[in-house]
Amino acid sequence: MTEATVIRWEQDEEGVVTLVLDDPAQSVNTMNAAFTEAFIAVVERLKATGNLRGVIITSAKKTFFAGGDLHLLRAVEPEQAGEFLENTLRLKRAMRELETLGRPVVAAINGAALGGGLELALACHHRIALDVPGSRIGLPEVTLGLLPGGGGVVRTVRMLGITDALLKVLLQGRQYRPAQALEIGLVDELAQDTEEMTAKARAFIDANPAAVQRWDVKGYRIPGGTPATPAFAANLPAFPANLSKQLNGAPYPAPRNILAAAVEGAQVDVDTALVIESRYFTELACGQTAKNMIQAFFFDMQAVNSGAGRPKDVPARKVGKVAVLGAGMMGAGIAYSCAKAGMQVLLKDVSPEAAERGKAYSAGLLDKAVARGRTTPEEREELLARITPTAEAADLAGCEAVIEAVFENPELKHKVFQEIEDIVAPDALLCSNTSTLPIGLLAEGVTRSADFIGLHFFSPVDKMPLVEIIRGPRTGDEALARAFDLVRQIRKTPIVVNDSRGFFTSRVIGQFINEGVAMVGEGADPVSVEQAAAQAGYPAKVLSLLDELTLTLPRKIRNEARHAVEEEGGTWQPHPADAVMDRMLDEFDRPGRSGGAGFYEYQDGRRVRLWPGLREHFGKPGVQIPFEDMKERMLFAEALDSVRCLEEGVLTSVADANVGSVLGIGFPAWTGGVLQYINGYQGGLPGFLARARELTAAYGERFEPPALLERLAAEGGRFQD
Ligand code: NAI
Repeated sequence: MTEATVIRWEQDEEGVVTLVLDDPAQSVNTMNAAFTEAFIAVVERLKATGNLRGVIITSAKKTFFAGGDLHLLRAVEPEQAGEFLENTLRLKRAMRELETLGRPVVAAINGAALGGGLELALACHHRIALDVPGSRIGLPEVTLGLLPGGGGVVRTVRMLGITDALLKVLLQGRQYRPAQALEIGLVDELAQDTEEMTAKARAFIDANPAAVQRWDVKGYRIPGGTPATPAFAANLPAFPANLSKQLNGAPYPAPRNILAAAVEGAQVDVDTALVIESRYFTELACGQTAKNMIQAFFFDMQAVNSGAGRPKDVPARKVGKVAVLGAGMMGAGIAYSCAKAGMQVLLKDVSPEAAERGKAYSAGLLDKAVARGRTTPEEREELLARITPTAEAADLAGCEAVIEAVFENPELKHKVFQEIEDIVAPDALLCSNTSTLPIGLLAEGVTRSADFIGLHFFSPVDKMPLVEIIRGPRTGDEALARAFDLVRQIRKTPIVVNDSRGFFTSRVIGQFINEGVAMVGEGADPVSVEQAAAQAGYPAKVLSLLDELTLTLPRKIRNEARHAVEEEGGTWQPHPADAVMDRMLDEFDRPGRSGGAGFYEYQDGRRVRLWPGLREHFGKPGVQIPFEDMKERMLFAEALDSVRCLEEGVLTSVADANVGSVLGIGFPAWTGGVLQYINGYQGGLPGFLARARELTAAYGERFEPPALLERLAAEGGRFQD
């Protein structure tokens, strides 16, 4: 492919060259091999252009530039590190030549500029962003286990100073709206339309005929200082310390490499800093964590959002009016998310006051959003006006979808659906937000069971991006497609699973909790159990999570499940955690945070410390579970049960398992998800299998590898769709 196709060269009589990024092979521009070659060639041509007055870089796509080529990054192997490093340096040398051309170069950012796209713009002397809705600017590499390896670390440090570059741009990977990017200093100007953008670009070129980057001006100093500046150096140790605290020992290499690249790079000249950055980048790109995160967050997410799990031949439909039954914690959050997406919401509870309280929850969220500048007072009013609280079933007339979120009780759920089934639209989609009850059982309470489906939201609904769609035995294709569309309409990520007790998410997170509790029962130090969860990368420590959920919930679920198994003539397999939870509840009356006492002690609802009684009543002197075993028992318990979910047909896709486990139940993001964890385990599937056998021998049959895993390992396969 030639430069003429990937980067179009347009030169006017005044000597202004516009470089139009327009990769014909893709819908977006990415930093792939074709781009690298084209860019190097174009810079050579600019250098050779005699009457060059200035350069404008823009794109013919909807977005400016999508960033690094993730296909390529996912495929780099450690043995290719040298070649990979050299390739990144070639591109960076060309960017460096562009910024030292002696002529003004302006980035006309016509849409989203993320990652490599923003890095390209940072190598320009001036950045003008088109202020279009939905446009995002930032360096999100850290969220994929990477660092901005196209000069992003080096240049943001020199533009914003080390502290702001790290905290506002590099370590969180935040994506900013154009106006926010202007405020931070990532762009220099905004434009409302393309004409204004071009006019401003030309004005910059006219006013700065020999533009140079500020760091190429003699006497330049990094704003806020460097490790060589005493005041800054005094604060420097706080950075790694804060980072360690935040990461809690979890294995995320990217933040550390970013910090190192920023600090080391600030002490040397730009060219050396760019090489340092590339080395740290290459190390991450060749490692397993980045591969895992790219797989789950990019490829799997695309697969999930593209509608692979949605029946194809059902036409798309939008919901205009939705009924939410139950205005408690979940119902209130669901009402907010629906209203935010523009739907009219009828929020029903047993009394007008209870329904009003549910609406007040949205008002509270919106007050915070207004205070933080995330929404306007007008938008707040409009959203609230879309939520109508009510205690009258008759008000639900005409609703095209119903989402039920009353107490977790099958009889009550049957009753509330009976009340409204004949009032809502005759073909209304009927959804339940149950977290544990079988959808097949709940569907028995409605006449149109083909329209009945599970829509499992996560708490807090406004923040949690996942919705687990549960197809019951009688759910029709049409209902599944409509549920999928509804979830997309409220801008959440859907995974689709088949009916079973606890579905996928509640069932698998239960394994994590049980494993943590079982270790307490074996006599392990509870502090170590919590640390093991944190160091494995779980966002919530296991015993504190259970305290939040309350210990009565798993017991209720367990009793129901046991009852169902025994009714079907099966034998119930108890878990070693059961006895610990029973003692906590029956002997010590410690049900969790809401009861004022659990695995932790609480004061005024705040967690104080782990309950010393745990050591006294459960501790066994001399018992020492190896720390690595502790971490892996939790990870393996969830991974193995996910394989069983796949084997049993509860899960129908690997992408759903990976995305669902990370976004819904806090499976550590560095793994790339619960099945990618197995793929990426040391030694691959055979390595995982061998370790599962070791754990079985040491801790019990629940670690026994399922047949599907054995088969895939024997075939040299991996978990993929
Ligand atoms: P909640 O106790 O906060 O709210 C339940 C609400 O339902 C209360 O406001 C109650 O007044 C109302 N209600 C009771 N009978 C009603 C009736 N006949 N008509 C209308 N409203 C009625 O409970 P929460 O936590 O919101 O849970 C609701 C459902 O969501 C349950 O099925 C639960 O299993 C499920 N769920 C809960 C999650 C959580 O994290 N709490 C997560 C996912 C699902």
